[in-house]
Amino acid sequence: MKNFIKGLPKVELHLHIEGTLEPELMFELAQRNKVAIPYSSPQAVRDAYQFHNLQSFLDIYYQGANVLITEQDFFDLTWAYLLRCKADNVIHTEIFFDPQTHTERGIAFKTVIDGITRALEQARTQLDISSQVIMCFLRHLDEDAAFETLAQAMPYRDRIVAVGLDSSELGHPPEKFARVFQAAKKAGFLTVAHAGEEGPAQNILDAIDLLGVSRIDHGVRCVENAELVKQLAESRMPLTVCPLSNTKLKVFEHMGQHNIVDLLETGLCVTINSDDPAYFGGYMTDNFVAVADAHQLTQQQIAQFSLNAIEASFIEQAQKVTMS
Ligand code: HPA
Ligand code: ZN
Repeated sequence: MKNFIKGLPKVELHLHIEGTLEPELMFELAQRNKVAIPYSSPQAVRDAYQFHNLQSFLDIYYQGANVLITEQDFFDLTWAYLLRCKADNVIHTEIFFDPQTHTERGIAFKTVIDGITRALEQARTQLDISSQVIMCFLRHLDEDAAFETLAQAMPYRDRIVAVGLDSSELGHPPEKFARVFQAAKKAGFLTVAHAGEEGPAQNILDAIDLLGVSRIDHGVRCVENAELVKQLAESRMPLTVCPLSNTKLKVFEHMGQHNIVDLLETGLCVTINSDDPAYFGGYMTDNFVAVADAHQLTQQQIAQFSLNAIEASFIEQAQKVTMS
């Protein structure tokens, strides 16, 4: 089954580029940029990755991003991820970046986006991997900061397909960003949002109604509202689910308890993604294998996750036909 999964063409729709920072590269960049990090070795970094909820992860994850300073750093980070994509036969990826994690430290928006998109362009020609970029607002910061970030993104409008919402879900519901999302839509961006990861099913409804999202990131807590599950199935609203993330952050105690296969069988457009693979122990193939092993998936079920991801992607319609 592992070989079938590895060879299956895959599309990734939920990936934070800052979450692909492997401990080895973290060390290399810390040395290159003379940034102090509170670890003695890459193994010590890995040992520190013991999480009990989303916040305990985010605290470590934002700290890790401090080593990213130059355009070349963002290029190197993104290129390393794209090589993993190639090894896993990921043929298209839609990556998130969190500009505020960097602009708050005095790194220019331009530095971040130029490094990321230079790697994505190189992957298009050298690795035959297509891509899109989604800019996320940090929901623990306020509405004014999100508006400021949206303004900074405007000169790069042609490089960013959508805006999203990530970071601490509890205490920061979708309604906090309704006006920013309205402005982003008016400027031509598509929208997505993390909802129903740690927060209630109501956040999924609000992301749809107040933020006008095209996809829900995570969304696994939809099962707490039967009416919502029905609506998601009928509308084929995609859920970008991240199995290893969910078990690492204790959304589910173990993979056998994960509801992704139930959701698939109920007819929802669920997809498999890696979220923050350097922190959660696996890239795309690892996530597929973890679900397939715990739930004894058939090849048809496994392939359906890939077909769903093509359907849910922001790829041009014409390109979708040739992919599937
Ligand atoms: N949830 C919220 N914010 C995040 C995540 C996540 O899974 N990963 C990186 N930022
Ligand atoms: Zn995420």
